[in-house]
Amino acid sequence: MGSQPAEQGPTSPTSVPAAPTPAPSDSAPADSASGVSAPADSASGGSREVIRWGILATGWIAKLFTEDLAHVPGAQVLAVGSRSFEGAQAFAETHGIPRAYGSWQELAADADVDVIYVATPHSAHHAATRLCLEAGRAVLCEKPFTLDHASATDLVELARARGLFLMEAMWMRTNPAIRRAVSLVAEGQIGEVRHVSADFGLPGPVLPGHRLRAPELGGGALLDLGVYPITLAYLFLGRPTHVRAWASLFPEGTDENTGIVLGYESGAVATLACGLRGKTAGRAVITGTEGRIEIPGPFHVPAGFTLVRGSEETWVDVPYVGNGMNHEAVEVVRCLREGLTESPLIPLADTLEIMALLDEIRAQIGVTYPS
Ligand SMILES: NC(=O)c1ccc[n+]([C@@H]2O[C@H](COP(=O)([O-])OP(=O)(O)OC[C@H]3O[C@@H](n4cnc5c(N)ncnc54)[C@H](OP(=O)(O)O)[C@@H]3O)[C@@H](O)[C@H]2O)c1
Repeated sequence: MGSQPAEQGPTSPTSVPAAPTPAPSDSAPADSASGVSAPADSASGGSREVIRWGILATGWIAKLFTEDLAHVPGAQVLAVGSRSFEGAQAFAETHGIPRAYGSWQELAADADVDVIYVATPHSAHHAATRLCLEAGRAVLCEKPFTLDHASATDLVELARARGLFLMEAMWMRTNPAIRRAVSLVAEGQIGEVRHVSADFGLPGPVLPGHRLRAPELGGGALLDLGVYPITLAYLFLGRPTHVRAWASLFPEGTDENTGIVLGYESGAVATLACGLRGKTAGRAVITGTEGRIEIPGPFHVPAGFTLVRGSEETWVDVPYVGNGMNHEAVEVVRCLREGLTESPLIPLADTLEIMALLDEIRAQIGVTYPS
């Protein structure tokens, strides 16, 4: 297990967070449920032995993900594309990647690439993913999927129309401990879920000029961090019927500190928070009528959790591998090999519902983006 989970930056006033250690190999079992199938000879991958990856953008998370990919059975990193050839070449040399391209177009046009991992700032997710899909490539796109529901819908419709695989890189949903917690709750181990609480706050300070403050780059705590507690609540409670949110904003107009309350038809409630100035405990608690699950921080990449039933408390140990991102890569490789165009672990319908929720919260806290 990696000692420093991702999504911890920025932990210092600088804009370049420290990188965790490289990942050992992954042997996470594949999910047996099936998703939507594509024809075996489609660009979704068919029944290929080796799935060849392209990396689009060369920033912090691209580095961590590429490190994890190196240890995913059946995955080969074939190419990298950057806005500059020098950037692509330097990244290719560091990671031993055979092909380097100085534009997204050239990467997308490489017919030997089966799937492209999009790791730009959020504001470019839509354009980059669209370009790749139009070129016939499958895509794994970083979270948040896009800036809003409308642009997310555009990508989902395009992928479906072309029979191409598309998935949001919401790696928390492929984390083995999160998956175990979801199945225990589905089995009724804690009864009916009544409350979910989760917080994700980074210490900051985030200095002016950092992408996390910039409206033109989709900055703010909500889209970068809030998407995790919102997705967690969604996993255990589904779609809320009531949404209330408030945030304090940076001078640039993006959110610095955000609180969210979600209400559900069943009477359940979720209380969620995210912020960029103050490291919160990062814990999550799922409380049911018969017990609860306590996930220690950082809840989006746990190595286990405590199951509480009455006076009994049991630690359920479910370690993750490497930086924790190879589980999502394993899922992509599995889907492509099986000819699926969607992952049943991260369905596109869920991604769209969560994007709609993010739109609603942004409207309430008064954050708008230039695009
Ligand atoms: N899953 C996770 O744990 C996790 C953690 C952190 C971030 N993320 C997500 O990953 C994405 C990237 O985050 P990051 O921290 O890696 O950011 P980053 O370090 O700033 O890297 C982003 C990369 O995108 C390219 N880029 C920069 N500005 C751009 C622009 N205006 N338009 C298009 N491309 C641009 C650059 O690569 P080139 O110079 O090569 O073009 C840059 O290195 C974000 O959407 C974030 O939410 C996920």
